Amino acid sequence: SSPDPEAYMSTMDLIRYWGYPVESHDVQTADGYILSLFRIPFGRFSDRNSSCHRPAVLFVHGLGAGASEFLMNPPESCPAFLLADAGFDVFLMNHRGTTYSKRHITLKPWDNKFWQYTIDELVKYDMPPVIDKAIELSGQSSLYWIGHSQGTAVGFMTPADHPQYNQKIKALFQLAPAASGGYAQGLIKIGFWAYANLKPVVDFYRIAFGSHEIAFQWSFIYRPLVRLCNIIPFATPICDSATHLLFGPSTRTLNITRAPVYLSHTPSGMSTWIALHWAQMSSHKRVEHMDHNPLENIQRYGQEKPPPYDYSKIDVPIYYFWSKSDWLGTPEDIERILLKTLRPDVVKGAIEVDGYNHIDYVVSTDCAEKVFKPITDIVRKQESNMCEK
Ligand SMILES: *[C@@H]1O[C@H](CO)[C@@H](O)[C@H](O)[C@H]1NC(C)=O
Ligand SMILES: *[C@@H]1O[C@H](CO)[C@@H](O)[C@H](O)[C@H]1NC(C)=O
Repeated sequence: SSPDPEAYMSTMDLIRYWGYPVESHDVQTADGYILSLFRIPFGRFSDRNSSCHRPAVLFVHGLGAGASEFLMNPPESCPAFLLADAGFDVFLMNHRGTTYSKRHITLKPWDNKFWQYTIDELVKYDMPPVIDKAIELSGQSSLYWIGHSQGTAVGFMTPADHPQYNQKIKALFQLAPAASGGYAQGLIKIGFWAYANLKPVVDFYRIAFGSHEIAFQWSFIYRPLVRLCNIIPFATPICDSATHLLFGPSTRTLNITRAPVYLSHTPSGMSTWIALHWAQMSSHKRVEHMDHNPLENIQRYGQEKPPPYDYSKIDVPIYYFWSKSDWLGTPEDIERILLKTLRPDVVKGAIEVDGYNHIDYVVSTDCAEKVFKPITDIVRKQESNMCEK
């Protein structure tokens, strides 16, 4: 028997394992992808017959992750379970290309064409049917959005790109907000540097290999590897440093003995194009559409240069959670890019979470107190007759 049974479960089984009801719904996008939308309609102790109100909340995951990033901890420190137990109707999306959304009506994941998508396609095609489906299932007319990392960028871009969705989002709760990614620290900076300084190599790669999958969910490799973190004494600091170099200084609230569970469920797949899109935005320090090439840009956008996203069209209350120790959603990116482009009247709250690195928001053992209790408190003030008190 394994010390971490959750490291061998599918995401749906993980939800059932902790005693929660779960549903999976297929959502088809206008360009033919079939996405899995997970739903946890009740908490562990809910009175399912009560006529009380369960506000719908949609969790939108980060780059290289999937719905599972909100489900990897025990209920006391697990974002999705905390919200289900707090009286929400919880929805968790899985973007195209991730473990549970590798389906398309005609394309197969081994076709290069399957992977030809950037953040633009997540915003343009994934979000509208996912939001509509969650709203339909919940029987409500709008929902709360909790985004992490890239999920915050998609959260800003969605109402900017589809202004009619301003009415369908009650508030954006943005954890580790990402604007352009332009001031990132650590290992990722090397990737962005390579993009900016080795452009011919990048362009050659793109022409030679097209777009394909990277950051695979290879739990059979990662799981035994990170188990060494706990078994070999001198490996623990190495594992700590890896977390540090990728996401920011590590906190004592990251449960490193749980690493085999984390690395079994993430990463969960993404396209090379989406990585290039981030590299482009970070090197231009702008929130903009993908720069394909001048000819294709004219076809797609009617102009040679990729147009920026117009964040002044966002008309949704925004609460963001940030930290000076976050090396990807940095304070500079927030101040110099995000706050310069958002309308000041939509920014309702900026909550500093002292010491959190980029992933602490979803895996830290104290995320209930630091992040999710504040979110439920804000919602409770504006909803009446909510289920759990
Ligand atoms: C809830 O309602 C169902 C069907 O209406 C009924 O069978 C069940 O006993 C009820 N449960 C509770 C806890 O009241
Ligand atoms: C830390 O992880 C271990 C291994 O998964 C688990 O048994 C333990 O309950 C976790 N501790 C906390 C505080 O979540």
